[in-house]
Amino acid sequence: MSKKYKIAVVNGDGIGNEIVPAGVSVLKAIADKYKFELETENFSWGAGHYLKHGIFMPEDGMETIKQFDAIYFGAVGLPEVDDTLPAKDYTFRVRTDLEQYVNYRPVKLFAGLESPLRDKTSKDIDFVIIRENNEGEFVQSGKTFYPDQAHGFATDTSVFTRFGIERIAHYSFQLARKRRSKVTNVTKSNTLINSLAYWDRVIEEVSKEYPDVAFNKMYIDNASASFVLKPEVFDVIITTNLFGDILSDLGGAIMGSLGLGGSGNINPEKDFPSMFEPIHGSAPDIAGQDIANPIGQIWSAAIMLEHLGEVEAANNIMEAIDKSTSAGVLTVDLGGSASTSDVADAVIKNL
Ligand code: NAI
Ligand code: MG
Repeated sequence: MSKKYKIAVVNGDGIGNEIVPAGVSVLKAIADKYKFELETENFSWGAGHYLKHGIFMPEDGMETIKQFDAIYFGAVGLPEVDDTLPAKDYTFRVRTDLEQYVNYRPVKLFAGLESPLRDKTSKDIDFVIIRENNEGEFVQSGKTFYPDQAHGFATDTSVFTRFGIERIAHYSFQLARKRRSKVTNVTKSNTLINSLAYWDRVIEEVSKEYPDVAFNKMYIDNASASFVLKPEVFDVIITTNLFGDILSDLGGAIMGSLGLGGSGNINPEKDFPSMFEPIHGSAPDIAGQDIANPIGQIWSAAIMLEHLGEVEAANNIMEAIDKSTSAGVLTVDLGGSASTSDVADAVIKNL
């Protein structure tokens, strides 16, 4: 009997409506090849849904997606909708309600692509950002007081719990064991002397349980420079929600385009479905033109299949992307002229 996976597909907004269908076409092809079944159901949630219905997803939306094995997602946000809502009402909500506390964001150079970093090759650019995905700076606990007054002020409180830090640390060290056995804690504890000093302390405690894994600490300012000057020093980066968000875009940039980055919002215990999405947003500036790069979305499909246990299929997708990039089937962000669907078709042909 072939295995069957139920996938909730959420295009979201903007280029999500182009790159998610491209990714789904690759998923259908790989399922055929590896003889497993993918049952997909589409949910038209996001800022577009909000414009029509005043809400990003129906009241029972969270209950609905809990029934699936995974969520395959594009991005949410539209210029005409208050941009404080997409994360609060969709992305962070799914990530926290479904305890997807790991944001797994790999960075590597695809075959045939040159990094904007002169002289850096695929040997130098190959690491993973593990972003803490449930707490930290993005818990959205704060308030704006007297906004129109001269004495107006606003707060956002970061939250770092021992439980939250320990679990992301264990995940990072265990991942490092499967890679090149090195963990770098990207922090700023020299100035955030309470929250991030505690973050460091708990990670250091956990590191003692992994004496075989090299462990070091680097401040976020230095880490940003090192992404550009010496990315080869990184293997697994463990960092906070905000820092991981920013560093992921820098990671996308050194790969050659934001459109290349894939990711997983992962609940490692599989108590809840995990969600797989590219690292970027809905890119309204290029939406509707069939020019968005779908590779980050397709990579996210591979990460999803790996999480579901279809490792060979996942590897096959990665090889097919490499073949397509080395053959020069590239969208405009990479200096090519291929359309979104041209790239998806090339990947399917190369499976
Ligand atoms: P963005 O990531 O959407 O776009 C930044 C730049 O990268 C733009 O110039 C865009 O054209 C380009 N880009 C992004 N993805 C691309 C792709 N696949 N191919 C080619 N070029 C690509 O970030 P921005 O402009 O800051 O945000 C736009 C909207 O997306 C906002 O509403 C924001 O809130 C939302 N957003 C949503 C996220 C999510 O749903 N997880 C994550 C980040 C932003
Ligand atoms: Mg981001």
